[in-house]
Amino acid sequence: MQMLGAPRLEVGVIVPPKHFVSIDDLNQEEMDAVFTLAERIVEADIENVGFVLDFILRFLSEEEPSRPQTKRASCAGKIMGVAFYEPSTRTRLSFESAMHRLGGNVIGFADAKVSSVAKGESLADTFRIMSSYCDILVLRHPLEGSARWASENSQVPVINAGDGAHEHPTQTLLDLFTLRKEKGRLEGLKVGLLGDLKYGRTVHSLSLALVRAGAEVALISPAALQMPEAILSRLLRENGSAVRQGEAMEEFLPGLDALYVTRIQKERFVDPSEYERVQGVYLIDKATMSAAPKDMLVLHPLPRVGEIAPSFDSDPRAAYFRQAAYGVPVRAALVALLVAASANQQDESTVPAAGGSRLRAVTCANERCITHSEPDIVPKLVKEALTDRTICYYCDAPTPVSAKGTTSISARARKGRNASHGQG
Ligand code: NCD
Repeated sequence: MQMLGAPRLEVGVIVPPKHFVSIDDLNQEEMDAVFTLAERIVEADIENVGFVLDFILRFLSEEEPSRPQTKRASCAGKIMGVAFYEPSTRTRLSFESAMHRLGGNVIGFADAKVSSVAKGESLADTFRIMSSYCDILVLRHPLEGSARWASENSQVPVINAGDGAHEHPTQTLLDLFTLRKEKGRLEGLKVGLLGDLKYGRTVHSLSLALVRAGAEVALISPAALQMPEAILSRLLRENGSAVRQGEAMEEFLPGLDALYVTRIQKERFVDPSEYERVQGVYLIDKATMSAAPKDMLVLHPLPRVGEIAPSFDSDPRAAYFRQAAYGVPVRAALVALLVAASANQQDESTVPAAGGSRLRAVTCANERCITHSEPDIVPKLVKEALTDRTICYYCDAPTPVSAKGTTSISARARKGRNASHGQG
């Protein structure tokens, strides 16, 4: 069986390892495997580690062993490298905790100022080097598309722990896990996404995953912070009747099963006065939530900076601390799967050729895209599967091209990039 089932991007003749850079990178079967394993990790004592590897080997080989076969920790002897170029508490620490609990070790940096980045080293070089020291890498970076670029320069799986305002797919896994666990399903669920839908990367990955899973989303934000058109159009193409949009929280509250609250992403505003205009626009407290159903969950990726009153924490609907705690089992399940899958295919893999030089260079329209800052990167565009428009291969920003300057993208690269759209 092909490891973890999903289509992989092929660069030249080399088959790189399986990465998790976008929510599109896991298909339904793989996501279900992560959730099932995470569920077992929550239920069982994680120190009883043998079952994790047994589960994964069964998933990868499709063979049904008659009895548990291993007692070995699934990541014993393995090393996770963490490269965090932006602040983080939950994401980095839950990844590190997960790896330690799986029996592995962690190296890396939580502040790029203490790495050679401070001397001007490129992301590509950093990842080429780190991938020769580690078995799996986790990246958080302020530029959009950085995780895709890092994955092209890595011989081991790369996990995107947030690339600018683009995506945060592992947060989505634990958000979905929380909803499944506490609501029993995703299909048919009515979920409000509230706050900064423009710059909030968690809601970009989450909205796509929810609509694909058959949930309905209400996109609730000030006009200035609406869901970017690039994502909205994908949601509408996926299932237009599952998407509603508005500004007034009260209008949506009575019909919701869950409300996913986000922080206004102050650090991503170009003009600070724009931030001042929208700051504090929504408040979750006992009074505002009196209009919400008694069983409506309140989720938040955290950190909160005033949008949920601490006095609401004792309300049974407040699920955000449980949600954060699920970060460890969910990330443990993901890491264990990616490490095992990559170990199984190591013979096939070597360092991918950098850049994809067969593709014609273009310029991405998004000035926060990684393609504008890395020395060796060859910008390229692909056709988006659902909308058929041209988008940046790295950051997904729609980038129109003139008839003359139409980009040439190999069919193979396009297939690898788009094939899992719509599955997850
Ligand atoms: C989120 C992030 O970094 O995007 N935090 C997290 O990972 N839990 C949300 C945020 O910073 O607002």
